[in-house]
Amino acid sequence: MKVYHDLVQRRRYLEEVVLSARSLLMEGYTTAPGSQSEQQKSKLKISAKSSFKDLVTVYDQKVEEFLKEALRKVFPGENIVGEETLAGMRQDAFEACKNLDAFWMIDPIDGTTNYSRSYPFFCSTVTLMLKNAQGYVEPVVGVTFDPTRNEVFSASKGGGAWLNGVQLKVSSVQTPEESLLVTGFASERAQQGDGLAYKLFSELTKLTLGVRRDGSAALDLAYVAAGRLDAYWEWGLAPWDIGAGALMVEEAAGLNSTHDGQKVDYFRGEILSTNALLHKWMLYKLKEVKNEPARY
Ligand code: IPD
Ligand code: CA
Repeated sequence: MKVYHDLVQRRRYLEEVVLSARSLLMEGYTTAPGSQSEQQKSKLKISAKSSFKDLVTVYDQKVEEFLKEALRKVFPGENIVGEETLAGMRQDAFEACKNLDAFWMIDPIDGTTNYSRSYPFFCSTVTLMLKNAQGYVEPVVGVTFDPTRNEVFSASKGGGAWLNGVQLKVSSVQTPEESLLVTGFASERAQQGDGLAYKLFSELTKLTLGVRRDGSAALDLAYVAAGRLDAYWEWGLAPWDIGAGALMVEEAAGLNSTHDGQKVDYFRGEILSTNALLHKWMLYKLKEVKNEPARY
């Protein structure tokens, strides 16, 4: 087991690393008229991975390579895994990562569908994962960068969560009627049909101010940490989608668990993250809706 005594310093270096990818990230993004032109599409070289809903562009690959190189310079010799390099061998990669004491995870573009459609809700997100004394692999440093709003969300274990240098705190919303939630429909689940997710979306929409579906798990979690949203749930995710954001939620005094209240297993990709005040209610609703007979 590794011990790092410099997590705050690592967070600051990581912010610089992720910010340095900004111009490359924005090179492939446009909101100009004609953003869906054949010319733009051929610039992005969009292709599908596990299903037609799981997209990748050449900029996902370029930004991943760029971030890997930048991380290697600042943290030489440390393990780095990236979403695009591992495409198609996800499970094997997860097994290999479980044997490591520490590793960096890169999701070069979280929200690739949004990116490719000029919808301004995507980010780069990088996390340092560390195995603790009990053998549990958890995020200890994370940065999520939204280049369209120039927002840098970051956190380090025990060192707080931050947005452009201002400390974050989850919302103080206590009642479902005042709450604004967010979820996602993971592309990983596309093949199986997503009836349960639609059911939860529909039930929770009725009981709250609403449920957003924004298409970037990492930003959804950063927004819970920032108090813009009160709870997020999803499953079928990869550790690089949720590592940094879950740490932000925890450091902003929120709570993370699985949908049945257990400790999050980042390789299982199921998470409920809340402002802590709504956690019990969310757990209750998830259980209740999951146990109802399916209507879809
Ligand atoms: C996706 C986003 C989305 C979630 C998907 C992820 P990607 O990441 O986080 O919100 O619902 O499951 O795969 O593919 O754009 O990096
Ligand atoms: Ca991605």
